Amino acid sequence: MLEIHLAMTSHAFDPERRQGVYDAIALRRDVRSFRPDPLPPDLVSRLLDAAHRAPSVGLMQPWDFLLIRDEAARRQVQALFARENAAAAAFFDDPRRDQYLRLKLEGILEAPLNVLVTCDPTRAGPQVLGRHGIPETDVYSTCLAVQNFWLAARAEGIGVGWVSILRNPELRDILGIPPHVLPVAYLCVGYTDEFPEAPVLETVRWGSREALAGLTHYDRWGTKTLPMGGELQPAQHGSLESPLLQTIGHIGPLDRSAMLEASARQEQLTKPPGSLGRLERLAVQVVGITGKARPHLERRAVVIMVGDHGVVMEGVSAYPSAVTAQMVLNFTRGGAAINVLARDAGARIVVIDVGVDADLPTDLPIRHRKVAHGTANLATGPAMTQEQAMTAIGVGLETVEAEIEQGLDVVCLGEMGIGNTTPASAIVAAITGQRVADVTGRGTGIDETTWRRKVGVIERALRVNQPNPSDPLDVLAKLGGLEIAGLVGVVLGAAARRVPVVVDGFIATAATLVAAELCPAVRGYVIPAHRSMEAGHRVVLERLELEPLLALDLRLGEGTGAALALNIIDAALALLDQMATFEEAGVSGAARPC
Ligand SMILES: Cc1cc2nc3c(=O)[nH]c(=O)nc-3n(C[C@H](O)[C@H](O)[C@H](O)COP(=O)(O)O)c2cc1C
Repeated sequence: MLEIHLAMTSHAFDPERRQGVYDAIALRRDVRSFRPDPLPPDLVSRLLDAAHRAPSVGLMQPWDFLLIRDEAARRQVQALFARENAAAAAFFDDPRRDQYLRLKLEGILEAPLNVLVTCDPTRAGPQVLGRHGIPETDVYSTCLAVQNFWLAARAEGIGVGWVSILRNPELRDILGIPPHVLPVAYLCVGYTDEFPEAPVLETVRWGSREALAGLTHYDRWGTKTLPMGGELQPAQHGSLESPLLQTIGHIGPLDRSAMLEASARQEQLTKPPGSLGRLERLAVQVVGITGKARPHLERRAVVIMVGDHGVVMEGVSAYPSAVTAQMVLNFTRGGAAINVLARDAGARIVVIDVGVDADLPTDLPIRHRKVAHGTANLATGPAMTQEQAMTAIGVGLETVEAEIEQGLDVVCLGEMGIGNTTPASAIVAAITGQRVADVTGRGTGIDETTWRRKVGVIERALRVNQPNPSDPLDVLAKLGGLEIAGLVGVVLGAAARRVPVVVDGFIATAATLVAAELCPAVRGYVIPAHRSMEAGHRVVLERLELEPLLALDLRLGEGTGAALALNIIDAALALLDQMATFEEAGVSGAARPC
C-alpha cells in the first residue's frame, strides 16, 4: 500500500508550494476598493500569461484581453453600471433593496486598470475538437482564463473585482468589440488596502456559503448527504432513497431565462419601469417558478394540516386541545374563516388530519393520515420520534402529489392545532439562536402570566431536548408538531414540482424555515402572504429573507392570509399578461439616459 501511495504522490508539490496553491484559492477575494497607483507592466504581463495558460477546449484559446486604462472609456462603463445597477435594484424587495443599494459593487474608476476578457467562438474555425455537442465550452474555457488571472493576482497581492452588472450591447459599443465576440468578464485590477477574510456578501449577511455535503451527489442526482452537512443516518432519517431526499434532489433554481424575458416585458409595458413595484417582481418570480411566460394560477388549493400538541398540558394556550377536532368539523361544514376566504379566492380546501388527538369520524370528508394522537409534551422530552416526523413530512409530500393529480397551479399553506405557536416559537429559537422571549407571542390571545409561562416552557424544552440547530430534522422532531412537519413536506414537494407556495403566518413560516434549512433553494418558490402579529414572525421572515405582501394584523392561521394573497398574485399576473406594450399602444417610452 505504501508503495502505491508514494508512486501516486510523487508528482505532488512540496508542502510549501502546495499550501501556496490552496492559499491563493482560499484567500482570493472579489475586490471593489483600489489604490490609484499604476501597476508595473511586467506584473500585468505575468497575470496575462497566467490567464493565457488556462486549459481550453480543443486548445482553441478563445480569449482576448482588452486592457482599458483610458478614463473616458471607463467613465462610460461606469455610467452603464450605474444604470444597470438601478434597474437591478428594483427587483429586490425592501429591506433587501436598501441593503443592495448600499453595497459597493465595482471599482471601475478607482482601479488603475480594467481588463475585459472576451470569448471569440470563431477562433479555431467551425469544428473545434471537443466542442461539438456542447457549444458553450468556448465560454467555459474563457472563464478558466479569468480564474487563472484572479488567482495569480491574489498571489501577487493585487486585487481583482469582476463586474457583471453591465450589458453586452452597450459594452460592445463603448469598446468597439465586434458583434461575434462575446464580452465575458469585466475586471477591475489594482493595488488594494484589504483582502477581506470572508466574501463581503457573506459578511453583510447577503448570502452564505452552502454546505459542500449538500451539493455533492453520489452516483445519481439526489443521492447525497443532508445539506446541513450531517451524515445521513438511515436509522434516524430514512434510507438514502427516501422520498424526502429524492424530493430535495429535484428542487432546482428558478428559470432564469424566463425571468429575464418577463423582466424585459415589464420594461416594455405602458408604465414607468418599476412603477408597479412589488407586483412586477411577484409576476417575474411566478414566471421563474413555473417556467411559463404568462402564467395563470387557476387551480389552487389551501392545504390545512391539523394536529394536536402535548405541550398544551403546560397551560400555554387560551383554548383546550378539544377545539382542534371541533374546528376540523367546522372546516368540513364551510363555517370557518378560511372557508369564506378560500371560496372568495376560488381555492379548494384540503383538510388533513395528521395528528388530531381525537378519533374523527372515518366518513368525514378530509384526508385521514393520522401519524399519532398529537405530539408528546416537548417540555419534558422530544415532541416526536424521528420516524413520526419523517412520516408526517411524507404526508405533506404525498398530499402535493395527490393535489397535482387533481390539477394544482398554486398551493397555500394552512394549519390548525391548538398550542402550535409554542412549537413554532421553539423551532425558530433553536434554528435562529434568538432569545425565546423575542420569538414568542401571544398565540390565541394569552395574558401576561400565561405568556411568561409559555416562554419558560420553551426555554425548558430547549434545555431538555438539546436540539442540534444544524440538523433541521432533529429540531423538527424534538420541538415541532405533526402539522408543522406535514407543511415541511408540502413546501418541499411543491418546490420540487415547480408549484408556487403561498406561505401563511407564523406557523407556516416556521415550517418553511425548516424546509429552507433542508434545502435553501425552496426559498425561490415561496411567496410570503402576510406579516402576522406573532412576535417571532418578523425574525423568521428576516432569516428567510422574505418580505410579505400584506400586513393586516392577522393571527388566525388556517391559511387565511395566504388565501387573501391569491388575489394580489392574480393581479400581478394579469398585469404582466394583459397590459399593452408601448409599441402596441403607440405610446412613447421614456428616453434612455446616456
Ligand atoms: C461571474 C461573476 C460575476 C460577478 N459580478 C460581480 C459584480 O458585478 N459586482 C460585484 O461586486 N461582485 C461580482 N462578483 C463577485 C461575487 O459577488 C463574489 O465572487 C462572491 O460574492 C464571492 O466572494 P469572493 O469572490 O470575495 O470570495 C462576480 C463574481 C462572478 C463569478
